[in-house]
Amino acid sequence: MHKRKLGNSDLEVSAIGLGCMGMSFSYGPPKDKQEMTALLGAAVDRGVTFFDTAEVYGPYLNEELVGEALAPFRNQVAIATKFGFDISPNSDPRGMKGSPGLNSRPEHIQEAVEGSLKRLKVETIDLLYQHRVDPNVPIEDVAGAVKELIQAGKVKHFGLSEAGVQTIRRAHAVQPVTALQSEYSLWWRKPEAEVIPTLEELGIGFVPYSPLGKGFLTGKIDENATFDSSDFRSTLPRFTPEALKANQALINLLGAIAQRKQATPAQIALAWLLAQKPWIVPIPGTTKLHRLDENIGAVSVELTSDDLLDIDDAAAKIAVQGARYPEKLEQMTGR
Ligand SMILES: NC(=O)c1ccc[n+]([C@@H]2O[C@H](COP(=O)([O-])OP(=O)(O)OC[C@H]3O[C@@H](n4cnc5c(N)ncnc54)[C@H](OP(=O)(O)O)[C@@H]3O)[C@@H](O)[C@H]2O)c1
Repeated sequence: MHKRKLGNSDLEVSAIGLGCMGMSFSYGPPKDKQEMTALLGAAVDRGVTFFDTAEVYGPYLNEELVGEALAPFRNQVAIATKFGFDISPNSDPRGMKGSPGLNSRPEHIQEAVEGSLKRLKVETIDLLYQHRVDPNVPIEDVAGAVKELIQAGKVKHFGLSEAGVQTIRRAHAVQPVTALQSEYSLWWRKPEAEVIPTLEELGIGFVPYSPLGKGFLTGKIDENATFDSSDFRSTLPRFTPEALKANQALINLLGAIAQRKQATPAQIALAWLLAQKPWIVPIPGTTKLHRLDENIGAVSVELTSDDLLDIDDAAAKIAVQGARYPEKLEQMTGR
């Protein structure tokens, strides 16, 4: 698979990575460990070298899975993980019941990293993100704590997730940021206004999460879809039957382009992201081998400037319905 560099850093990874969250967290009960281990190995066989996990996914289960499954391939892959949610007993890190707690105090970052290193079975974390900006801890202190971990050889690269541009600049001044991981896709284009120009100016790579709109942009979810209470999407305004119905216009657009390019809607959604900047590396998540193949096939779908203009024109006429997150979770972004 083609490789891409994340910004000005020396971190070079497959143009499409693999989001591992859904294997253990957020989208229903954890999936079968043996099957997921085989899927992770199959991804390496296919040239995927960038894997995304977090302490909070499970909590812990996803890091354990990724650590064990990728141990045989340690030298071929980059593993990214994240700290920053409060995952003490009785906390609500996914915000399924309300507002999740955060903890980015420097001493807690150190503890979290020790745990992640053990679970991932690695001596150094290739890319360590702060999962959400913690309003109670100055970002300089967070960047300083990660800088010390880099100096100690426990971490290679620093990242932020859903941070606002001022925070990105302040963090970058203390410890260069290699990548920002935030939501970005055809149905969430807010990063285009301020974030992407800032990343370009500072030479920071961009890792779009939920690049398939949490499954919606694949065309496999319509207003008849049901999500049980263990599926995070049951709490999202954008996944109500009304919103799903209204937003089918986006699927029609992706379907039309897909037909023209002999590709699938999921591949067009990913190829569109890849076409935005050469330092963008999406991390679609899947628990199924045939979908992994479909998703990585997006690297071979080349959208011409005419295709991109058509997509932009058509997308500009579609007003996406429903908030991407409930208000309490949205308030934790862009800070
Ligand atoms: N930093 C953050 O705050 C944050 C937040 C959310 C996610 N993430 C990271 O980003 C990764 C990806 O995001 P995401 O999982 O939320 O959303 P996504 O990649 O946009 O979509 C994943 C969903 O789409 C389905 N899917 C994947 N490929 C498909 C295909 N070709 N056809 C039909 N359905 C398909 C998956 O189901 P199946 O498993 O059934 O295929 C899953 O339900 C996560 O794994 C996680 O590592 C980070």
